[in-house]
Amino acid sequence: MDDSRETQGPKAFVTGYPVKHSRSPLIHGYWLRQLDLAGSYRAHEVSVEEFASFIASLKDDTSGFVGGNVTIPHKEAAFKLADRPDALSEELGASNTLWLQDGVLHATNTDGRGFTANLDERHPGWDRGDRALILGAGGASRAIIQAVRDRGFKEIHVVNRTVERAQELADRFGERVHAHPMAALGEVMQGVGLFINTTSLGMDGEAAPWIDFSPLVQGAVVTDIVYVPLKTPLLAQAEEQGFAIVDGLGMLLHQAVPGFEKWFGRRPVVDETLRALIIADMEKH
Ligand code: ATR
Repeated sequence: MDDSRETQGPKAFVTGYPVKHSRSPLIHGYWLRQLDLAGSYRAHEVSVEEFASFIASLKDDTSGFVGGNVTIPHKEAAFKLADRPDALSEELGASNTLWLQDGVLHATNTDGRGFTANLDERHPGWDRGDRALILGAGGASRAIIQAVRDRGFKEIHVVNRTVERAQELADRFGERVHAHPMAALGEVMQGVGLFINTTSLGMDGEAAPWIDFSPLVQGAVVTDIVYVPLKTPLLAQAEEQGFAIVDGLGMLLHQAVPGFEKWFGRRPVVDETLRALIIADMEKH
């Protein structure tokens, strides 16, 4: 893109600490070029101490930004400091997408939409069952629980090493959500049509325990929110055992769509070229 296209249009950011590993500038930069839009999207590193004044500069309109993404460790603070968080981020207590409208700072959380859009694209029919199992009860599992619940699953089972954390989430997300310790995994898997790993098990080449997926219903789909490597050990095991798998990269790509549309006014498309661009970047690092 030539420089004038970048300096003329709306300015958006991704902020985190650290933020240099974020792939969001690659994603939004690709869409800006593809749609031939003036605008920029840049990584903007802000420490915890400076975050409140960064948000104030957005609201005072001294930054020139129209909005942006917020990542670790600022998602909870972004939610608290926004003027108008929506109902999704209200329930999660965390926001990853901000935009200014008439001087008012709005906030939402697009992780859950990224999760469902990825499955809609790569495995239509993933939502046919009644029973879903979510492995893990960390920060990343919350938006998934919310999205799966809102999609209409009747029973959502959260299995976690520390069962108290799973119980907190069951209490937060309502009566359809149930908590279980890891020892109950095999039993809880009975009749499950959607299995989601939200733990760091198997990330970055770490070993993962062997899981017997056979209690899942025939035709069940197994997905992982970890996307490095693309085929995590859990996904490889599920595939070997005859289950459909969906990797987590699409969640990252799809969660970026609503923000781009707010800031730059066009709804972008997640395509294979974008996926290949991010995969090539993952192979470089
Ligand atoms: P994030 O915010 O990315 O979800 P997190 O809050 O650190 O990260 O949560 C990581 C999740 O992976 C948790 O569910 C954690 O289980 P605990 O709540 O018991 O800590 C899970 N996890 C990490 N390493 C694990 C391991 N070796 N065995 C089982 N679960 C593990």
